[in-house]
Amino acid sequence: VWAKDFMFRHGIPTAKFNIVESKSDLLSVVKEYSFPLVIKMESLQGGKGVFICENKKEVESVAEKIYGELSGEKLLVEEFLKGVEASYMVFCDGKNYVPLPSSKDHKKIYEGEKGPNTGGMGAISPAPVMTDKVIEKAKKKVIEPVIKGLREEGIEYNGIIYAGLMVENESVRVLEFNVRLGDPETQSILTRLETDILDILYPLGKEGRLSMDLDIKWDNRPSVCVVMAQYGYPGKYEKGSQIDFSKLKKEKDVYVFHAGTSLKDGKILTNGGRVLNIVAISDTITNARKKAYEKVDSLKWEKAVFRKDIGL
Ligand SMILES: Nc1ncnc2c1ncn2[C@@H]1O[C@H](COP(=O)(O)OP(=O)(O)O)[C@@H](O)[C@H]1O
Ligand SMILES: [Mg+2]
Repeated sequence: VWAKDFMFRHGIPTAKFNIVESKSDLLSVVKEYSFPLVIKMESLQGGKGVFICENKKEVESVAEKIYGELSGEKLLVEEFLKGVEASYMVFCDGKNYVPLPSSKDHKKIYEGEKGPNTGGMGAISPAPVMTDKVIEKAKKKVIEPVIKGLREEGIEYNGIIYAGLMVENESVRVLEFNVRLGDPETQSILTRLETDILDILYPLGKEGRLSMDLDIKWDNRPSVCVVMAQYGYPGKYEKGSQIDFSKLKKEKDVYVFHAGTSLKDGKILTNGGRVLNIVAISDTITNARKKAYEKVDSLKWEKAVFRKDIGL
């Protein structure tokens, strides 16, 4: 709610919206929208607070569910935006900013963007939809007005600005902001960073400034990150499956990150919904995919699930 009001105050492009605070408010406001429409909860819901409603019946059941359990919850009602999603992040010291390469997260559990939302089942960097022209728009219409707006409102912010964007016909609109990097976008972006990240973060943290004379080097080649999850995720899942790392060979430009594992009696066990992130960099997305999926195949455990279409 705060972010949407902020965007409104500073003319940052985003979906048309209303704020409601009760079931009756909600049911009357939705009359101004066409379907599908989007309802977002104000309180943190671990990635499960956004509802895309196709008809009035679905709105009523969301209203029932939310206001049956919570009173006084603020909700956003939003116009449904069409297009392709992409993530655009910058390091920022409140005045200057340094962009990271763009990326695209694959949010849905099933291939072809179907099924419930997850924390992210894979990512690629860069996002093909983020052409030079679109990046320029993201800077001019989103990032720069955000930094200026924060300053004007007396908010000192240094850190990361993450803009979740919807891109349609080369125009950008903001879905959400985060004040952190994204998971799994980070894995596909930072593996492309050739400069020591501490050279960027240390002055930012210690002195609140970006060193603008630092020439940050990025690997020009694309990367693909595949998330290996435990069967059942994002719903209920078991923990404790053993992962066999014996077939894993060290290979240039391929990384295996632990996301939800534990070490017990010398064995590596699954200990979360999203378990491993396999990242590969290569000259083309197709080759990066091939490399990443080769590793995925050598690491599969009995209850492992993953999407086969990351970066396709
Ligand atoms: N206005 C909108 N139009 C279309 N899709 C939306 C809209 N808002 C959210 N979504 C979809 O819902 C997902 C989650 O919404 P988001 O605002 O990113 O919340 P969070 O990540 O905090 O759950 C988005 O990645 C997008 O796929
Ligand atoms: Mg999101």
